[in-house]
Amino acid sequence: MALYDLSRQVLEQVRQAADIVAVVSEHVSLRKAGKDFVGLCPFHGERTPSFYVSPEKGTFYCFGCRKGGSVFDFVMETQHLSFPEAVEVLAKRFGVPLPQASAASRRREDLTQQITRALEAAQAFFLSHVSRDRPRAFLEGRGITLIQAQELGLGFAPPGWRELLDHLQGKGFSEQVLKAAGLVVQGDQGRLWDRFRDRVTIPIRNFRGELIAFGGRAVGDAQPKYLNSPETPVFSKSTVLFGGPKAFAAMAASGEAILVEGYFDCLSLQLCGFPHTVATLGTALSDHHVRELARRVQRVFLCYDGDAAGLRAARAALGTLLAADFEVRVVLLPEHSDPDLFVRQNGSQAFAQLLASACGPAEFLLRQAGDSLAARRQHLPQALEIVERCPNPVRRYVLKEDLARGAGVPVDQLGPLLRVPKTAAPGEEPRIPAGELALLRGLLLDTPLERRPGLLTRIPVDELQHPLCRQVMEVLVSLDSSGTPLEISALSTHINEREARRLVAALEYEAPPTSEEGLEKILRELWERQKKRQLAALTQEIRRAQAEQDREALARALAEMQALMRQAGASR
Ligand code: UTP
Ligand code: MN
Repeated sequence: MALYDLSRQVLEQVRQAADIVAVVSEHVSLRKAGKDFVGLCPFHGERTPSFYVSPEKGTFYCFGCRKGGSVFDFVMETQHLSFPEAVEVLAKRFGVPLPQASAASRRREDLTQQITRALEAAQAFFLSHVSRDRPRAFLEGRGITLIQAQELGLGFAPPGWRELLDHLQGKGFSEQVLKAAGLVVQGDQGRLWDRFRDRVTIPIRNFRGELIAFGGRAVGDAQPKYLNSPETPVFSKSTVLFGGPKAFAAMAASGEAILVEGYFDCLSLQLCGFPHTVATLGTALSDHHVRELARRVQRVFLCYDGDAAGLRAARAALGTLLAADFEVRVVLLPEHSDPDLFVRQNGSQAFAQLLASACGPAEFLLRQAGDSLAARRQHLPQALEIVERCPNPVRRYVLKEDLARGAGVPVDQLGPLLRVPKTAAPGEEPRIPAGELALLRGLLLDTPLERRPGLLTRIPVDELQHPLCRQVMEVLVSLDSSGTPLEISALSTHINEREARRLVAALEYEAPPTSEEGLEKILRELWERQKKRQLAALTQEIRRAQAEQDREALARALAEMQALMRQAGASR
């Protein structure tokens, strides 16, 4: 969002003004418990409260589902917003003025706003033509009544060359804006004409409901069958999930999404009682799509066309979704069908049954290989490769068991089952070493505020092994060097990574208090490790210097070695 320039200072103002208890109370009824507040977790169903809010630290944490973080994280999570959006919401709510953006980003913003207004004006124009015979006949042929079409915002771009152009210029929109909005096309000789002609128009809105583009379905035999808005400052086809704000709300409410390929697949299913349907608009499932899904749902029903291309796309999407740790089910349609056709021919009950009998990933992958066990076995390596992408060890184990069963081989023939993935997937960092957790907790909770800077300087931050721990410590070092008190509440605006904010919020609850002796022991171990590493490096350097007869370097390394050995006995 380019509306505001957010500096740390501004973030800090918002953070201080935003009362986390008031914010959470809008979703959860809280009661006081000591210095914290407690209530029923809004993120998972529970009957006994395990959701804690600490006004002092500015954090929330749930024992049940282990979600946690700052007031920003709470707003991001509950309202499905990005970090800057959450900041904006909180700033408005608590009356913190946000500085206006720089001149350049303001100009960009102006153009964006004008594009949006032009798109809305075009939408009104298209809507006013949808009751014509031509679009009506087309839509009725697809089982969509005029009333439903109007509900969905479907419109019609008339066949002339300048109908929309003349209409919008008459309303004062400039050529430049209409071109930028992708509504008109300019030919070589500078001539302008309407991009969408003789097509049913489909509005594409983002999750906030803002109109960002159109799809145009040819009513006759014109090619291409679908013409879309070009890439514009507000639209990028490969990143948008088509479905509209109602679909996003329905997804968030149910935790499930139905993912289809086409515009009308999506619209038909939504009309037939499956509001949580979204479409990728014929493009491959991108990381951006995955993030939009992950913000709202845990389970995805893949429902692509029944043809070979659809199966191939489903297989690719399956791998992408498993890698992002979704629970995935694949809906198999008859070969010449697609979701739109199926639900129109067979009704919503039949589609509900199809959902209920959707395959798990292993079954889908093996079915593609065929029915014979021999063919399935031959296909196992490719299937395993997809399943191995799942970062969740438990889910991966179950998937492999399914594969083994489906191919009729003993599960231990599939290789090591609980292999730890070489590169930790997002959301699944290697476990934090107990000592590092205890160190963080000791520093931020068990050591009095005035003694924290002194303790911090004794921590060899580079020796910490867990990236999140190291990140938090590095932030603390930079806060300390600018004279900021080392309090948990101050951290939320300085830590960029959500997982790290969660870690800080969880400290009090996931680790027992660290005693002073405990702290000293951990520090000693870290110094020990640091020294070993330094010694090893020096030894190597000495060998090198000797081999190359580099006297100067040798003398330097030996002196350093001596100093290090002297330090060994002395405590710090
Ligand atoms: P399909 O070819 O499966 O079309 O493309 P469809 O959705 O079944 O179309 P109908 O039912 O015949 O009207 C799937 C999706 O790929 C995108 C569209 O989003 C389409 O819905 N697509 C397809 C395009 O963008 N351009 C095209 O020319 C074709
Ligand atoms: Mn189709």
